[in-house]
Amino acid sequence: MGLLDGKVVIVTGAGRGIGRGEALECAAQGAAVVVGEFDADAGESVAKEITAAGGRAVAVSGDVAEAATADALVSTAVSTFGQLDALVNNAGILRDRTLAKMTDDDWDAVVWVHLRGHFLPTRAAVRHWKEAKRGGHLVHTASTSGLLGNFGQANYGAAKAGIAAFSTIMAMEGARNGITSNAIAPTALTRMTLDLMPQEFRDKRDESIKRGEFDFFAPENVAPLVAFLCSDASDYISGKVFGVQGDSIEIYQPFTSVAEVTNDGKRWDPEDIPGRIDELFGDSGVQPGAENMMLRMRHQILEER
Ligand SMILES: NC(=O)c1ccc[n+]([C@@H]2O[C@H](COP(=O)([O-])OP(=O)(O)OC[C@H]3O[C@@H](n4cnc5c(N)ncnc54)[C@H](O)[C@@H]3O)[C@@H](O)[C@H]2O)c1
Repeated sequence: MGLLDGKVVIVTGAGRGIGRGEALECAAQGAAVVVGEFDADAGESVAKEITAAGGRAVAVSGDVAEAATADALVSTAVSTFGQLDALVNNAGILRDRTLAKMTDDDWDAVVWVHLRGHFLPTRAAVRHWKEAKRGGHLVHTASTSGLLGNFGQANYGAAKAGIAAFSTIMAMEGARNGITSNAIAPTALTRMTLDLMPQEFRDKRDESIKRGEFDFFAPENVAPLVAFLCSDASDYISGKVFGVQGDSIEIYQPFTSVAEVTNDGKRWDPEDIPGRIDELFGDSGVQPGAENMMLRMRHQILEER
């Protein structure tokens, strides 16, 4: 008995990395999986890995940010396995550059894959569920880069923050039709992130894996939470953003107001603001200057592991 027995799940970008882990875990939990992947060979290989282990899977190749591919993911789920229960939007790319050096293409490519690549498969799934008069589960892939900000990732972070907002709105819209929508902010070492880590850290990790210790940064660690969010066991959870890495599952609070100054019922005079604005920082503990919260978090993780 698995958490997803008899269910049908689509995972985009499932040919490698985090998406591959999610596809394998959903299959291990009993789901039939539609493996969406830009790289046809990688997608086929994951589908074969699932069927070789006795599971059910089919690969659909193409760019998930194209309507034809997004629609094909849903129609293939229904024509091959008879239904659709969950969609995991995972496909993504990086094009890191500071803004002055960022080309139009760096911006457009990242926003295209992440935002359109979430919008189109979600629309196809929601349209199908509406027509079939049934609910389903949506899992979207945000990032700490979008929630906290990260140097050199204005394109990626803007798209990922957009995905967190997209997920929250999908949760509101889906509530009356039995559709849940949650987002994850994963951390794992994959083709996308391995090169960003210092060599010394990578060597330390390789040695720890050789000793048979738990690999905190394995992409497969993200999958159990995603399988849960695809299952009916998570029916009561929607519109939330979870951090997930290693053996850790976190919950993020949405942007929320933490302090206020008012002007006795009158519109503010700009000249009065300098004398009062520091009350906000004093009351909230928020720093007035630019902060790199991601860097602080990364250092903490590297020091701890
Ligand atoms: N690795 C991390 O630490 C981390 C952190 C935060 C967020 N994420 C997000 O997790 C997701 C997976 O990342 P990963 O680290 O596994 O990367 P990865 O590069 O290992 O895998 C991404 C997969 O998506 C596929 N893909 C890319 N664009 C596609 C498209 N347009 N259509 C279909 N498939 C496409 C790629 O071919 C690849 O197989 C991404 O959305 C990424 O932004 C990863």
